[in-house]
Amino acid sequence: MFDCIETQGITAQGKPRKINACPHCYKKGKMEEINTRAEKFGAVPVLISYRCENGCKPPHGKRRHNDPEEKKREYFQTYDLGKIREIEAKKIPYWYPKDRMMHAPEDQECWGVKWRAGTSNFRTVDELFTKRNLWALAAILASIKNIENPIIRDAITFCWNSVLLNLSRMTTNRDRLGFLKGTYYLPQECRCTNVWGTLANKFRMMISGWKAINAIDTTDLMISTSDARSIPIPSNSVDYIFTDPPYAGKEQYGELNFVWEAWLGFDTHWHDEEIIVNKIRGKTEEDWANMMRQAMAECYRLLKPGRWLSLCYHDTSEGTWALIQDIMAESGFVVDQADVALFIDTGQKSYNQKVADKVNKRDLVINFRKPKPGELIPSIAITGDEDKTTFTEKVRQIIQDYLEANPGSTKDRIYDEVVSRMVRCGQMEAHDFDSILRTVAEEVKTPVMKNLFEKKEPDLSGTHGIARWYLKETQLDIFDEAESAREEAAAQKIGAFIKKFMSENPGTEGVHYSDLFEHYIYTVNDKPRRQLIEILPDYFYKTEQGTWRLPCSEEEEEAKREARVKGLSRRVKRYLVQL
Ligand SMILES: C[S@@+](CC[C@H](N)C(=O)[O-])C[C@H]1O[C@@H](n2cnc3c(N)ncnc32)[C@H](O)[C@@H]1O
Repeated sequence: MFDCIETQGITAQGKPRKINACPHCYKKGKMEEINTRAEKFGAVPVLISYRCENGCKPPHGKRRHNDPEEKKREYFQTYDLGKIREIEAKKIPYWYPKDRMMHAPEDQECWGVKWRAGTSNFRTVDELFTKRNLWALAAILASIKNIENPIIRDAITFCWNSVLLNLSRMTTNRDRLGFLKGTYYLPQECRCTNVWGTLANKFRMMISGWKAINAIDTTDLMISTSDARSIPIPSNSVDYIFTDPPYAGKEQYGELNFVWEAWLGFDTHWHDEEIIVNKIRGKTEEDWANMMRQAMAECYRLLKPGRWLSLCYHDTSEGTWALIQDIMAESGFVVDQADVALFIDTGQKSYNQKVADKVNKRDLVINFRKPKPGELIPSIAITGDEDKTTFTEKVRQIIQDYLEANPGSTKDRIYDEVVSRMVRCGQMEAHDFDSILRTVAEEVKTPVMKNLFEKKEPDLSGTHGIARWYLKETQLDIFDEAESAREEAAAQKIGAFIKKFMSENPGTEGVHYSDLFEHYIYTVNDKPRRQLIEILPDYFYKTEQGTWRLPCSEEEEEAKREARVKGLSRRVKRYLVQL
């Protein structure tokens, strides 16, 4: 690749593109493309950047394997390759990690989601490094371990760790040194960067950070890396929680941390506890959701009543957002009604975040509160000395309240609510829950999901539906007027936002759901009963890219209006799932 001629080729569609061509064929007048995705046959040193310590002028220089200067060519062969040959022939006399990536079995080539045939196919941790750098890194780490003062030892280990991946075969031979974050991509041409120089540079950069840390004169803190589902802290004792949980399977933290952890001698067998979607390890979306539920329930347990939790979440799809909301609600949290959006705009972004249009460019923060016990006291007083009719009436009222706030709940949830409110006032009675439920609500079967986003095919026994409950139309009508006004007001705010967004971003066809959701959650204080995703199709059109746009003609506007008046959109969606 290093010697290839960069020239112009054409794509299958006939468009021009840059290609690498074989230099030998090129000399003979033939254009032979060297495909960067073709099978690799190893790497050989081709260029060296040297520094003379014996007063040469100039003191820095470069020489290449086919250098036009004969002396440089000779030095390259004799000294540069000679040194590498010497290193290759010897055994490294220091410890370094030889772990199989992710401890995958020997006969399983693909060790994880981040494994790629050809571009990320190293097998063991040490294979990520050239032998020269492996030796230097191991030697320096051995010396660092001998530092007696634990604070200095930790600080320098931290510095060493921060440059570890820059010193791997992932670093490209480009003008700007670096590697693709969030992957283990091994480029065609890598640069074997000088270990000592890189470390010294980093050390200088870190000095100001250490000075700032030293100025903090408290040691009253604890850093724990325990499983978020089981934190050794007493209940109701924490004043505030900031949490940045894993985003389903989007970032493979466990796999991406493996190299660091192996070098640092940490436990590298914790991955069963990882909250993640990872198909190689058989961790499904459902597992992720269940583990997130446990972690959020743990946060709820620790937090003092009335105190806040800030959840930072990187939304990649409406599905996971809806799920996060459910998880937080199920854990007992109430959502903040702030009117400003909070974001964390992280400076360093992964390759994906920079190049892909569809992913969110910022992390959204939503605040949740653990309610105080008194807040949960039901508004309906059940005294217990009422007769059967009043008792039934009150259960009906609880169901109605609950389904108004949580349309589409499953029967067990509704029953739990009834039981919990009854039991809290000590007046639970035996009653025919099913028949009371049916007087106010109706059942709608929704499909079982194969994963978070795909429907499961019906199985042979035909059991493929979850029963969800909605207030009967007659009950809904009672609320309809106020509810319609709420939806109308929300749609107006969303419409104005889409209009502004489109004028500020000419060329875009619509606005991504996550942007609408951010705006909605913070600007619409009096939220309609239905979820935003259910309201959007009643007012706006979905583009081919899956974004949302305003109606673009009178006809389109009229069509939506008509559908709303008839209440079609809402009802059709609810009943379609039954067909
Ligand atoms: C979104 S990241 C947090 C990143 C962090 N805020 C930062 O800026 O570096 C989620 C983190 O949760 C960790 N994680 C995954 N499963 C966990 C578990 N069971 N307990 C605690 N942390 C876990 C992941 O390894 C990852 O480091």
